[in-house]
Formats: sequence, structure tokens, C-alpha cells
Amino acid sequence: MWEKIDKTEKTILLVASLVSASHLLLIAFAAIFLEISVPTCQPNEKLFDHSSLQSVGYRRYEVHYVAKMWNFEPKKLVLPVGATVDFFLASKDVNHGFNIDGTNVNLMAVPGVVNREVQTFRAPGIYHVVCHEYCGYGHQNMNAVIEVTDRVNEAQMDPVEPGSIAHELKEANPLAASGKKLYQLRGCVACHSLDGTPATGPSFKGLWGRIEEMQDGLKVKVDAAYIAESIKMPQAKIVKGYGPVMPLLGLTDDEINAVTEFIKTVK
Ligand code: CUA
Repeated sequence: MWEKIDKTEKTILLVASLVSASHLLLIAFAAIFLEISVPTCQPNEKLFDHSSLQSVGYRRYEVHYVAKMWNFEPKKLVLPVGATVDFFLASKDVNHGFNIDGTNVNLMAVPGVVNREVQTFRAPGIYHVVCHEYCGYGHQNMNAVIEVTDRVNEAQMDPVEPGSIAHELKEANPLAASGKKLYQLRGCVACHSLDGTPATGPSFKGLWGRIEEMQDGLKVKVDAAYIAESIKMPQAKIVKGYGPVMPLLGLTDDEINAVTEFIKTVK
């Protein structure tokens, strides 16, 4: 049978088989050695409109990201080196992209749909998340940051890990604990440090009860009303030495209470 086939045809058959085989090998190589996974639509996943970070095992996390005009929630995420993260992505308004620089995570945020991809972060560093799908006026400034560090251990990350800072906080003051979570998830962490270092905004350390001087010379005591006003109307009062750059986060009154309780604990 084989002998009867024309020589050119044989060559073509051989080349075609080799090409098909090499494609399969490359796919296997990408999946196994490069750990490239295919983003998947999650038809059974419940839609969500709030971001969250959950520890689901040893160095295993599930993060729900919300994309909206024109930012991501959480704006900043801090993870320990070696963390494997399930990214779940939803959009509040239009189509957005979700691309994590330096990784193979490349997702679309589509309204009404939850998309998912898994990524392990082996190297410490700053990973930039960008929206790579044109989504309107603010598209080019739509970004977020994932910081992977070996200075954070899982005990600090995991809100239920016994002995962790968050756990102690939770035991003593559940409201402050959820405030701390909001602080991390809603991006306050990007501008307000906890160790006294001034950043884009004033540090939360020792903030509660302090007398702050505003740009116009007005002196204000940091109490619940001031914090609520600063979150609801970020531009109402600007502390001297800082710019009017705080975004409107749209926190609910309950969330503001929790953040206030948390700020009280940062001494
Ligand atoms: Cu969102 Cu571009």
C-alpha cells in the first residue's frame, strides 16, 4: 500500500504529520513547563460587584477583581512569594482588559460574566496590572498593582490564621478587622502607610485624635466625622503638604465605620 503512493504525496503526508505532532508537543510544553493556562469563563460562578481576597489554603488565594471605569479593585494587592492565586474577574460597566505584566494572565472583564485564570508568583516584585482593552476616556490610566514580597508571611495575610496580626485584631475587634481588610482591598494601602511614613496621603499611624493642619491653615481634629467626610468628599479638606488626589471610593457608611475603627487601632 505504502509503496504504491506517489513520492511527493508521501513527503506531504510526512510533513503534515510532523507539523501536527509538533503543535501538540508545543501545547504540552506550554501547559506543563511554561504553566500557561487558558482563561476560562465561569458560567456557574455567581456575579459579584465587590472585590475580595480570600486565603483558601497554604499560599493559595482567591482574589475577586472588579473592573470599572476607570480603575480596578483592589487597586493594590500584597502577596507572599510563592502565592498561587485564582483570579476571578468581573466588570461593573463596559468591557475591560486585565493583563498582569510579566505573567501570562490575560483576561477580559465582560459585564455579566466571570472570567478566571490561575497564576503562581514565584519571584518577588511589583507586577503591574493594566487594562488593555479600550474602555473610554480614562482607559490609559486604568491600572492596579500586585506586590509580591518575601517580607510578608502568610500569617499576616491570612485573616483566620491563629496567631496572625489580623487574627488577633479580629478576636479583639471584629469591626476593626474588617476595616483592615477594606484598607487593603479598596486600595487605601496604596497611599496611607501604617508605620508613619508619609506617602501620597498622610500615614494612618497615630492619626486618630491628631490635630491636622489643612492647606488653608484650618486646624481639624481627626475624629469619626472628619474621616467620614474625607472618604465621602475627598476634596473637602486637604491636609497641608498633600495634593487633592484622593479618589472617591464609594464606601458605604458601614464600611466607613469599619475603616474608622481600624484607624483607631493604628497607634
Ligand atoms: Cu478599562 Cu481600558
